[in-house]
Amino acid sequence: MSGGVDSSVVAQLLNKAIGKKLYCIFVNTGLLRKNEEVQVVQTFKKRLKMNLIYVNAEKEFLKKLSNVSDPEKKRKIIGNLFIKIFDRYAKKIKDVKFLAQGTLYPDLIESRSVTGSQTSKIKSHHNVGGLPKKMKLKLVEPLKFLFKDEVRKLGLELNLSKDIISRHPFPGPGLAIRMPGLITDEKIKILKEADYYFIQALKDHGLYHKIWQAYAALLPVKTVGVMGDNRTYEYLCLLRAITSEDGMTADFYEFKKSFMETISNKIVNSIRGINRVVYDITSKPPSTIELE
Ligand code: XMP
Repeated sequence: MSGGVDSSVVAQLLNKAIGKKLYCIFVNTGLLRKNEEVQVVQTFKKRLKMNLIYVNAEKEFLKKLSNVSDPEKKRKIIGNLFIKIFDRYAKKIKDVKFLAQGTLYPDLIESRSVTGSQTSKIKSHHNVGGLPKKMKLKLVEPLKFLFKDEVRKLGLELNLSKDIISRHPFPGPGLAIRMPGLITDEKIKILKEADYYFIQALKDHGLYHKIWQAYAALLPVKTVGVMGDNRTYEYLCLLRAITSEDGMTADFYEFKKSFMETISNKIVNSIRGINRVVYDITSKPPSTIELE
């Protein structure tokens, strides 16, 4: 369980069906949005009273990812470590026979090339087909023929709050694929702050629900700027906000200049480590939604 729309809907569906026989494992990879781990525990453990096992694996992920900058390597490392940690905790629960996942239809097709050739695969999604054979768990994927809008409708039927149902999608590899190049503790901290201000501004300006997905990314480039009378030499922050039906194709969202000015000033003035903000104006295709 990640706390995102898909796994939340699966969890609630199973919660209604099998109640306390359901165990949700939530792994904090250290690559989540700011305060995400607090909110997930609050919602699912405290409010919805689910059996939620919280695993803090921040250090383990960061260690495995040090010195890795290739996008596919990052995805593979995160996917494999995720499974390893998940397995470690799943084994502690007695007599488990099934593993439920929030795989959607687009996850399946985007990770599988249309022609069947491995080379034309776009990205390896970390929530698809990574289950090691030795786990011997039968997969339960109730959403695998649904698109996001259908999953949201199902969530509403299951009485999940609008807050949970209308959240933007967030990828399993998290901030790692929004930080091209090397991943460091310092960069994660900077990115979490920038992303937080951006998402908060979207909410404050009533834009969050008009946008299918939005995030901040940190580019591995430093540029020169000026703060007061001093020269700065800091990272470049990229903002991406898109409209989409299902994540398969996307258009960039057209903000008013005043909003862009507000968020750019907020980020540069509040965060040490960023002195320039750019907006991604590419659609999908030819770009993808995530940077890596
Ligand atoms: P792309 O970047 O392929 O993203 O255009 C399409 C949608 O998929 C999400 N995404 C992922 N979701 N695990 C996930 O659960 C992943 O590894 C992953 N990679 C991309 C992305 O955020 C967008 O919504």
